[in-house]
Formats: sequence, C-alpha cells, structure tokens
Amino acid sequence: MTSISTVKTTPIAGQRPGTSGLRKKVPVFQEPHYLENFVQSVFDCLEGIEGATLVIGGDGRYHNAEAIQTILKMAAANGAVRLLVGRDGLLSTPAVSAVIRARKAYGGFILSASHNPGGPKGDFGIKYNIGNGGPAPEKVTEAVYVRTQAIDAYRIVEAPDVDLSAIGSTAIGDATVEVIDPVADYKALMAQLFDFARIRSMFESGFRMRFDAMHAVTGPYAKAILEDALGAPAGTVINGTPLPDFGGGHPDPNLVHAAELVAVMAGADAPDLGAASDGDGDRNLILGQNLFVTPSDSLAVLAANAHLAPGYAGGLKGVARSMPTSQAVDRVAKEMGIGCFETPTGWKFFGNLLDAGMATLCGEESAGTGSDHVREKDGLWAVLLWLNILAVRQEPVTDIVRAHWRQFGRNVYSRHDYEGVDSDAAGRLMSELKSKLDSLAGTTHGDLAVERADDFAYRDPVDQSVSANQGVRIFFEGGSRIVFRLSGTGTEGATLRVYLERYQPDPARHDDEPQAALADLIRAADGIAGIRCHTGRDKPTVIT
Ligand code: G1P
Ligand code: ZN
Repeated sequence: MTSISTVKTTPIAGQRPGTSGLRKKVPVFQEPHYLENFVQSVFDCLEGIEGATLVIGGDGRYHNAEAIQTILKMAAANGAVRLLVGRDGLLSTPAVSAVIRARKAYGGFILSASHNPGGPKGDFGIKYNIGNGGPAPEKVTEAVYVRTQAIDAYRIVEAPDVDLSAIGSTAIGDATVEVIDPVADYKALMAQLFDFARIRSMFESGFRMRFDAMHAVTGPYAKAILEDALGAPAGTVINGTPLPDFGGGHPDPNLVHAAELVAVMAGADAPDLGAASDGDGDRNLILGQNLFVTPSDSLAVLAANAHLAPGYAGGLKGVARSMPTSQAVDRVAKEMGIGCFETPTGWKFFGNLLDAGMATLCGEESAGTGSDHVREKDGLWAVLLWLNILAVRQEPVTDIVRAHWRQFGRNVYSRHDYEGVDSDAAGRLMSELKSKLDSLAGTTHGDLAVERADDFAYRDPVDQSVSANQGVRIFFEGGSRIVFRLSGTGTEGATLRVYLERYQPDPARHDDEPQAALADLIRAADGIAGIRCHTGRDKPTVIT
C-alpha cells in the first residue's frame, strides 16, 4: 500500500528562476522544504501530470543524488507514472532534451548549475523542461514563481531511496522508475547527424584531438562517442570522470578555466583540435593550434559549413543568435539568403524558432551552440560538427577560420565580466545608463561616434510575447557595438557583462590582438557607463 504524505509548508522568499532555472548555493537547497517547494510549485502549474512520463537527471554535482530521490518521490505522489533517470543520476542537459524527445516524455527536470563550481559550498540548480525538450518558456517559469509565493503543502511518497546504480526498473508508489543508460539515446542521435565513418577514418589517418571534460558530465559521453565509436586514441578525453566537486575546478570551458588545454594547444606539439565542455555538457570550447575560436565565430563558421554534415545536407532554414553574440553569423545568413533572428540571452528564447522551423542553428557568445536536433545547446554536438567539417575539408582549424574571415570580414569580439559587484551599485549603473540612451546618439568617444542606443526588447515572432529590458545596446558608426547587461545566473552579488565588438574587413588587420583592437571601445564603455566609478573596479574579473 502506497503511502503519500501531504506535508505542510510555507513560501520561501527568492525562488525566482534566472536565465536558466533556479540557482542557489548548495546550503540553500539543503534548507528544509526549499527544493520541495519549488518542485511542487512546478507540478501545481502543469496540466496533465497525471499519468505522465518524466525524465530526471543532473550533472553529478554535489547534492545531485539527494535531490533526485526527492523529485522521484514527489513526481510519483503527484501522479506521474513513468520516471526515466540516468544511471547514477547522470544526464547531460542536451541528453535530457534528447531523451524527452526520443521517448515522447511529458517533460523533465535537470539538476545543474551549469558551469558554476560544485561541492558542499558550491552552486546547485534545478530547471524544468517541457515536452519539446527545451526549457520552460517565461510564462511557465513566471507561473511557477508566483506559485512558490503561495504554496502551503507538497506531496511526497513515503518510500526508501531507489538504487540508481544499475539499469533496471523499480516501483515507487504507483510509478515505475526506469534507470536508463545516460548515453545511448544521445549517441544514436549523433550517429544520425554526423558521418561517423568519415570522422573515424580521419582519426585512423592520424588526426589528433584533446577533449577536456573538466571532471563533469560530458566525460562518459565523450569517451563513448569519440574514443569508442569514432576510434580516437584512448586518452583523447581527459578529466573524463564526473566528480561531485569537479575536482575543485570551475567547469567553465573558457580561456581562464580551461587554461591547461589552452596551453597544450599553444604548445609545439599541439593536437589538431582542442575542445572542452562545461558542468552539464551544454557549452563548448573550440581551439585550433594556437587559436581560440570565439563562440560567435564558431557559430558563423558552423553555419557556413553545416551542409557538409549529413544531418544538415539539405541546408539551414535560418539561424538565430542571442543579442550580445557577435554579428558574424548575420553576414553568413545574408550571403546564404536565410533568416537571422536576434533573441534575448538564454536558450529558452530559441525554442519557438526551432519548433516553428524558422531556424536550424542557434548560438550564444557564452559558448553555447546548438541546432534543432534537441532544444538545448549542446557542447559535444558542436565538437562533432567541427570534426565532420574537418573530416570533409581536410584543412587545419586555423585555415578554415582565416578563410572565413577573408570571405566575410572579422567581427573582433570580447566580453568583459565584472563579477561579485555590489547589487545596488550595478543596478544604479544600469538605470543611469538607461536614463541617458536618447542623448547618446551623436556623441563621440575618441574616434567613435554613437549612431544610436537602445534597451533591447524582443517580440517573439511565433507567440508575439514581449521580453523587455534585455540589455543596453550602443551602436557606433562603422559597425562597432557595445552591449551592457546584468547576469541572470550569478549567485553572489551582481555580475556586469560588457560585450565589445568591432567589424574589421581588412585582412591585414585580422591578426591584431583582440584587446588591443578593441581598446578604444573599452575606453568608451567606461566613459559612457562609468564602470570604474560605479563598481570601484579598474579592470574586469574575467575577459573572454
Ligand atoms: C549566462 C550566459 C547566457 C547563457 C546562460 C546559461 O547567462 O551569458 O548566454 O544562456 O548563462 O548558460 P547570464 O549569466 O549572462 O545571465
Ligand atoms: Zn551549462
């Protein structure tokens, strides 16, 4: 006889999800009823949870296992009947999306704080994805937030924990928990999209790569696909075992946190391709020999060459990028005569465009690239698309990128982050900036003249929903641009992000060091927004 408890609870302040779900420090998630309130609020906002199939998995970070047990018991108590969980509670974010779609599940929960550090004092997070495999849209996350403010009880099955260490089925209340291979559905999907035989023969002929899984969830996926299926030599995947604290590292595949890989790729004996992925496997880093391919450039190169992979041989329906992402892909779309959409930051905004068949490839400057194969960004997918292109073109990464710049011009790009800034000071900086947008047009900053400035608002072309206040854009004559916005994923103070972009058509200038090439824009950013005076900082915390 199943025993379902209804536990009394009271609202907890501050359960508003950010750019990608609810993210807080682990001790916050360990507070009584914190996770339960959020999960019950999600169930309270879903219609049709009765009899549903749900997918549940996370990136293996500290508190993953405990949270999954709670969610399984609550899902069963709320009427779900089939609960698919990755073995050991592991599923990368793109794999959750792939499993939801492949098994026609009703939705799923992803436990992750992406690239943020893990461990007992690290970060944790939870996100609900809907039946298309993508993040719940704003109207759902907003309804969930409103519900968290009123909740007074949650439902949970009284049952022992489920063994998640082996493939198989267990009953929990009236539901069945199926422990699945976390890699299988995802790997099958990759084999449909890419020419595995051709990539395999490239490895056989001596192509070398290094993939840094950063002790996070992508390790098992990368080993199964790169080493086992594609024949890359053992040792191609490094840091391939997921650890609850990511080995004490920061699983963010950028120049700062993947410094070891960056050094290898700058060395004399560098492999042909260097790549890395983040905590939950949705971000990617692409390095050629001595070359960092910015995510914005990577998106543009992938868009121009995707037809070389079987899954995209029919061409692209369109492309989409988040607003702060460089405009390099816009030039490719124009040349190809396909649509190009500019969306607010956060993957959820791509969902409607992908579902409507308006875009095939999407990307964000923050190392997220993906396509309509799932509804999340996908780190390993981006690496495999690069591999497929390299196998067909038989040219080094560096040559491909340089040829791209010669054809389209180079959008020199950098992002400056000011982390852990006082929240009030950051808020004042943004509101002062917004108050003077109209008066900025026509002003000059060194040699730069402002053409126009605005606060980005987006009207979704599919459902017409409007998302305002998505970041300040300052356009200069000649195609340069500065964007200011506050992060929606931080867990400490505020993070100010400043995005700098200059268009350089002259091939003789394509080798200029990016920070030097952007120096006048960097000065203008401080002049216009008063970064130093508001934040007290004289330089950014992280430059990517
Ligand atoms: C950051 C990135 C954004 C990405 C999000 C989730 O959000 O900038 O592109 O979608 O992480 O990975 P932010 O902290 O800027 O709000
Ligand atoms: Zn991530």
